[in-house]
Amino acid sequence: MKGMVLSGGSGTRLYPMTRAANKQLLPVYNKPMVYYPLTTLMLAGCREILLIVNPQDEASYRRLFGDGRQWGLEIGYAAQAKPGGIGEAFLLGRDFVGKDRVGLILGDNLFYGDSLPAVAERGATGSGAVIYAYWVSDPSAYGVVEFDEAGRPMSIVEKPKQPRSNWAVTGLYFYDADVCEVAREIPRSARGELEISDINAHYLKEGRLTVEKLGRGYAWLDTGTPSNLLRAGQFVETVEDRQGLQIGSPEEVAWRKGYIDDAGLERLIGPIRDSEYGKYLQRLLARG
Ligand code: DAU
Repeated sequence: MKGMVLSGGSGTRLYPMTRAANKQLLPVYNKPMVYYPLTTLMLAGCREILLIVNPQDEASYRRLFGDGRQWGLEIGYAAQAKPGGIGEAFLLGRDFVGKDRVGLILGDNLFYGDSLPAVAERGATGSGAVIYAYWVSDPSAYGVVEFDEAGRPMSIVEKPKQPRSNWAVTGLYFYDADVCEVAREIPRSARGELEISDINAHYLKEGRLTVEKLGRGYAWLDTGTPSNLLRAGQFVETVEDRQGLQIGSPEEVAWRKGYIDDAGLERLIGPIRDSEYGKYLQRLLARG
């Protein structure tokens, strides 16, 4: 299964934190933000991953992830010259996608919930387009999906001034290979972006869109403003401290899914043995 992480953008709402550092490399408590969406894709079964990044940040991402082999992944990179919309992922990733189904996750989206792997796997193995909706108090900052009485999606609108529902579209999407062609044909929006909501609306019109509702037992967190970034960090800290289990550790997911074996995990622990993170991974190994 193939997946893309869209990890560019200008992060203007987080200035000056993002003046010299890419937003998705900022920490959410104890890990770079991008670790969380990357592990969500891994949990969905994606092992071939394309990271879409700003040209000036590619070297940092390569330092962070390399070619992914250490986690049993194949990670490649594509540079987005400037932020021209989420849909551009399918122009930049056209060769990567080829004839295969593909997942896309936004590098600033943090998902948490017990059966998330199964839910994401259903999207990965489904047909047409599969997207996820989450009830939020203020949906006007998101793509918003409206459902009919039978629970079928009726409309998708990007950042509506008067939202028709509280169901926000999250930043996790799965598509068949047609999506690259759809992205080529969709016109740019008034703000000059290739909108993911227009791609989703296209699939909806063709009757090939499934919208799964994520119930209230899930957390879908925003990291777009300083307060939201802090709250996301506090959420991760609270859960990790209570359980003694980490959220969004690629090493752990790779090991639990059998992408790497005990010896592989041991090798990763070596240089970071003294850090809290390294100690956590050692405890995992010791417990077996
Ligand atoms: O988070 C979910 C929302 O994400 C959806 O509900 C919306 O439908 C969708 O348009 C998007 O809205 P945002 O306003 O949050 O998108 P933003 O421009 O903040 O970009 C989201 C992430 O994608 C962010 O991590 C930066 C990255 N990005 C964005 C654009 C537009 C890129 O890497 N390249 C881009 O061209």
